[in-house]
Amino acid sequence: MKVEDVKKICVMGAGLMGNGIVQVCAQAGFEVAMRDIENRFVKNGLNNIKKNLSRGVEKGKMTQEQMDDILSRIHGTTDLKEAVKDADVVIEAIIENRDLKRKVFAELDEICKPECVFASNTSSISITDMAAATKRSEKFIGMHFFNPVPVMRLVEIIKGYETSEETYQFIDELSKKLGKETVLVNEAPGFAVNRLLLPFLLEAIFALQEGVTTVEDMDKAITLGLNHPMGPFTLLDFVGMDTALFIADYMYGEFQDSKYRAPILLRKMVRAGHFGRKTGIGFYDYSKKPPEPRSF
Ligand SMILES: NC(=O)c1ccc[n+]([C@@H]2O[C@H](COP(=O)([O-])OP(=O)(O)OC[C@H]3O[C@@H](n4cnc5c(N)ncnc54)[C@H](O)[C@@H]3O)[C@@H](O)[C@H]2O)c1
Repeated sequence: MKVEDVKKICVMGAGLMGNGIVQVCAQAGFEVAMRDIENRFVKNGLNNIKKNLSRGVEKGKMTQEQMDDILSRIHGTTDLKEAVKDADVVIEAIIENRDLKRKVFAELDEICKPECVFASNTSSISITDMAAATKRSEKFIGMHFFNPVPVMRLVEIIKGYETSEETYQFIDELSKKLGKETVLVNEAPGFAVNRLLLPFLLEAIFALQEGVTTVEDMDKAITLGLNHPMGPFTLLDFVGMDTALFIADYMYGEFQDSKYRAPILLRKMVRAGHFGRKTGIGFYDYSKKPPEPRSF
């Protein structure tokens, strides 16, 4: 498969990452189907894309006509068969759950055309393991975008055990067509970025639990002391506590190393539904304008 032959991309999941991936694909000129399990998620995803593009129009980065053109290439649906019909590539961005992803890929394998390439946006789960749920492991690859997708420039490309060189070259070229820079990572839990990021984020929560400092001061310390664009708690609220916990538990299981052990506070926040920005409450309270750091 050559990138110039790609007509349609199907993105599975209309959440935080899914709708961002849909936006960059449509902006690059591809027809995109965005599939989620419920209408309200599809609608949310579409609204987010519209909001993002409107901001671009307001700032003079694109015209209203260009925005309408991009939106006309996006088709939101809950119908799986309709979403994957004639798709040349499927990019999966559903929740970070190994069993669910394997189940979804096995189903996709039955209904997608044989030449269709499968890419997973997983943050940590083994590409080889997911590929083994299909009969196309040579056409299966990791395509790890970063949040927010339209802004962040990197795609980590992860080769599974049986991913072909042709599939890698194709996804590398496709990522560049989407305006991204790429790095190649050989499969390992957490790939390159999350291998370093997760211990950093988890340690910030341990420090908070121990009363070392506050949410606000830790974020200030890291922003000003390390020149990071945002502190760990602001970043965790963007990533989502549910996703962070899935990744931590998965990496802990794979490495059996306490570097990846999830603090109890993270687990409690997930149980309480305090996922961060997407639920309105995390380390900051987003019902307040501007958002206020919470006490722990
Ligand atoms: N949040 C981040 O910063 C980030 C960064 C890089 C990669 N990722 C990865 O991207 C993936 C998605 O994360 P997210 O933050 O967008 O999560 P999210 O919870 O915002 O979105 C996930 C969406 O998938 C949908 N979904 C569940 N089952 C589905 C199915 N069978 N078919 C279609 N849609 C289904 C859910 O309804 C939800 O809308 C995860 O694998 C995550 O690890 C996340």
